[in-house]
Amino acid sequence: MNDDIALQITPSAVGLGAEISGVDLNSSLSEKAILEIKKAWFDSGVVFFPNQDLNPSSLEKFTLAIGEYGKTDFIVPMDGHPNVLELRREPTETASHFGASWHSDYSFQESPPAATILFGHIIPPVGGDTLFADGRAAYLALSEKMQDFLAGLNGIHSAALPYAKDGFFGKDDDPSRSLKIIPSDRAKECQTHPIIRTHPDTGEKILWLSRNYTLGIEGLHEDESKLLLNFLCDFSTKEEFVYRHKWQKNMLTMWDNRRVQHFADGGFDGQRRVMWRTTVAGTVPV
Ligand code: OGA
Ligand code: MN
Repeated sequence: MNDDIALQITPSAVGLGAEISGVDLNSSLSEKAILEIKKAWFDSGVVFFPNQDLNPSSLEKFTLAIGEYGKTDFIVPMDGHPNVLELRREPTETASHFGASWHSDYSFQESPPAATILFGHIIPPVGGDTLFADGRAAYLALSEKMQDFLAGLNGIHSAALPYAKDGFFGKDDDPSRSLKIIPSDRAKECQTHPIIRTHPDTGEKILWLSRNYTLGIEGLHEDESKLLLNFLCDFSTKEEFVYRHKWQKNMLTMWDNRRVQHFADGGFDGQRRVMWRTTVAGTVPV
């Protein structure tokens, strides 16, 4: 165990995102180091570790140091690594970008993942940023009256828009896509979750919904639901709540799906991008 490592944590200027250096994620991390990493992750929502020499096996090992694996859905995992997805996009690919709509990963599951851990194996020279929006800051910026109104409401989450057979990826069966997506009727199943959730580790209130996976608000008239969802999706991703994450080769990034939404910004057509990805299990949102 490596007990005397000194983590350096450098928060970004915008309230979301912090760089962590002074640790080799290939080493066996002490309990203290894991606690410090988790604390930075709670404080900053997104933490990133530049210059980590990882492969799918060492990514698995780091993931299990954080927690149990989450459940992957609708995508074929890497050969020999059932909990790792390879997000590969070749220079010749013209298919739409994966993750290019605001979302919190797998929020349509009963217990969506707490963390997503994404490792930059091959990073294009331009583009490929990931945007993150802070649901905690968005909640705090709402008026008290709106906070109170939303407190008892549930969002209806589903994977239908991207993953149903007649959904976005289902219709767009571009054979050039390296990422193997499995459209399914199961994507139409719905799961309700509170629109204002309480973070299980920090106790903070979070505005928690997304354009990609939240299709309605339980108990409202359809017109009310549409209008309110539209407002909340716009509001929660306003520029003032957004952190733009720039990747480097060999950077590992871990985000908190209970607090942030994210968006793959694309803009690297003609270039290769290869990321390895795991998730850490979460709890039922309350
Ligand atoms: C994801 C995702 C964004 C990106 O891995 O869940 O949305 O920029 N990725 O690759
Ligand atoms: Mn995602």
